[in-house]
Amino acid sequence: MRIDVITLFPEAFDGIVGASMLGRARDRGILEFQAHDLRDWSLPGVHRQVDDAPYGGGAGMVLRPEPVFEALDAVIPMDPRPALVVLTTPQGERFTQARAEHLAELERLVIVCGRYEGFDERIRTRVDLELSIGDYVLTGGELAAMVVTDAITRLLPGVLGDEASSADESHTTGLLEYPHYTRPAVYRGLEVPEVLRSGDHAKIAKWRARQTAERTARRRPDLLAGAWTGLTDDQRAAVRATLASDTEEA
Ligand code: 6GU
Repeated sequence: MRIDVITLFPEAFDGIVGASMLGRARDRGILEFQAHDLRDWSLPGVHRQVDDAPYGGGAGMVLRPEPVFEALDAVIPMDPRPALVVLTTPQGERFTQARAEHLAELERLVIVCGRYEGFDERIRTRVDLELSIGDYVLTGGELAAMVVTDAITRLLPGVLGDEASSADESHTTGLLEYPHYTRPAVYRGLEVPEVLRSGDHAKIAKWRARQTAERTARRRPDLLAGAWTGLTDDQRAAVRATLASDTEEA
């Protein structure tokens, strides 16, 4: 997959994209990533201007349409594969694991980083999808573009060492993951649950499924409705018991 990012801070992507999982995906040729400096398409003049005061007045500067339109005119033809153009903005659709899974199927993305002070509304005419990473305000869309890139890249075939490791983790199933333990069996008086040391794999699987249900019911009850049809009878019973006991405690 190829991801191009258009940003005022291309150097901000160096660390994150060079390191760990993204770096490995790049080295293996699974991810092609390029950050482009929006100022390469700034207005003519020594100031390399990309923004301007808003029509109608008001505080702050607004990204002008020309640099973004011209950047897209240049970047899109850099590769013949069809590109989905994404804009990062707090006004966008909330980015979810389901959206990451959809985007990971595509051959190519071009991500335009929004600017917190605003951008000319006409830029939206060049965009296929607007994404926000949550209900809080960032100074720019760069961190959001990194989050989207990271979430997509780890889903690309061959990136995770163990393909199974993404299958039952938090959010992939719409539920929170069960607790994990490693050695030592007892640390500072804190014990690993006996069942995990039993060697009884059927019992372990059942315990984990129940922990997943209980944990989701306790921490993220908002996820239960969407995941309900995928739950086993045993998990549904665990959810009911957890919700009932929390009500008693309250
Ligand atoms: Cl995509 N941009 C900005 N500026 N703030 C955000 C965001 C995006 N998503 C959440 N907050």
